[in-house]
Amino acid sequence: MSFGAISTPALKALAEGTKRAGVWINTGEGGLSEHHLNAGGSVVFQIGTAKYGVRDENGNLSEKLLEDVAAHEQIRMFEIKISQGAKPGKGGILPAVKVTEEIAAIRKIPVGQASISPNRHLEIDSVSDLLDFVNRVRSITCKPTGFKTVMGSFEWLDEMCMLIRERGEESAPDFITVDSADGGTGAAPMSLIDNVGIPIRESLPTVVDTLTRHGLRDRIRVIASGKMITPTGVAWAVCAGADFVVTARGFMFALGCIQALQCNKNTCPTGITTHNKRLQRGLDPIDKAERVYQYAMGIRKELAIIAHSCGVDEPRELQREHCRIVQADGRSAPLAELYPYVKAA
Ligand SMILES: Cc1cc2nc3c(=O)[nH]c(=O)nc-3n(C[C@H](O)[C@H](O)[C@H](O)COP(=O)(O)O)c2cc1C
Repeated sequence: MSFGAISTPALKALAEGTKRAGVWINTGEGGLSEHHLNAGGSVVFQIGTAKYGVRDENGNLSEKLLEDVAAHEQIRMFEIKISQGAKPGKGGILPAVKVTEEIAAIRKIPVGQASISPNRHLEIDSVSDLLDFVNRVRSITCKPTGFKTVMGSFEWLDEMCMLIRERGEESAPDFITVDSADGGTGAAPMSLIDNVGIPIRESLPTVVDTLTRHGLRDRIRVIASGKMITPTGVAWAVCAGADFVVTARGFMFALGCIQALQCNKNTCPTGITTHNKRLQRGLDPIDKAERVYQYAMGIRKELAIIAHSCGVDEPRELQREHCRIVQADGRSAPLAELYPYVKAA
C-alpha cells in the first residue's frame, strides 16, 4: 500500500510491526520514505506505472534514482506493477488533498495536484518488452526483479514462458505476484473492484501449472495476493502452489480499518488513509505496531497448526491433496482433482 494512500502513523506501525514479525513490507506505487526504512525491516520496492520516486521530470524511469533506491541494503527486491486486481486497466488516483509536501517530494510530483498514474507502463507493449523491462531494472539494481499482475487471460503467460525458453532462464522474472480480481484499493471505480480480472482461486493454480509445464516452476517464485487474510486462505494458497502470500487488507484490519470506504477522500475516521492530523490522533503507531506484529504471528501460528493437522511438518510441505474446495452444490472436491498436477514438458 503506497505512502500517500496510507498515512504516516499507519506506515510507521506497519514498518515496525512487520520488522518485528520478520516479514517484508511492500512500498506500493508511492515510492520509498524514511518511514519504510527507519524500522530496519525488509522492503520490496514497487515500480508503478507513474514510476513514483524513480521518475525523471517527464515521468520516465530515472536510472540514477533507481540505483539510489537499490543502494539501500533493506531493499530486497523490485516489483514492477503491471496491474492490480481492484482496477485492471486503470492507473492509481491520489486526490490533490492527499498530495502533501512530504508525499510530493517522495513521489517527485507537484504538491497539491491530483496524482493520476498511467494505466500502463508506456515502454511495455508485449511480453518481449516486459522481459526487457524486468531485465533493465534487474541490471540497474542488481536485485531480484519480478512483476505484479491480475490475470485477465493465460495465453500471454504461455507466450512469455516460450520466450524465456528461447532467451534463456536468466531472462525470466524472479517472481510473479498474482493478484486476485477482487483486490482492495485506496480508490477504484466500483465497476472494476470485484468483477474484472480472474479470481485468485482460478488464476493461482493455473499460473503455477503454466510455469511447471514450461519447466520454469523452480526459476520463478509465485506470490499470491487477494483476501489471504485468514490462515485458511493462506493454507489454500500454499496448497495451490504459492511460495509466498501477501496481504494488504489483513494488515489494514490489524491497524483498525473499519471499511468506511473513504480511502480516497482524506476523511478516513480511523486515521489510516488520511493526512488530516486530527483524524490521525487515534492511531498510535506503537500500539498498532504491536497489533500488526501479533496479526502476522497469529497467521503464522495457525498456518502451522493447519499444516500439522494435515500431517506435514511445516506449511511449505502442504500440497494440493491436502485441500478440498466446497462447490456450489455444497459438496467438496479435492483441489488436486480440480487442478491436477502437470508435468514439465
Ligand atoms: C489502501 C490500499 C492501497 C493500495 N495501494 C496499492 C499500490 O500502491 N500498489 C499495488 O500494487 N496495490 C495496492 N493495493 C492493492 C493491494 O496491494 C492488494 O493487491 C489487494 O488489496 C489485494 O490484497 P488484499 O485482499 O490482501 O487486500 C492497495 C490496497 C489498499 C487497500
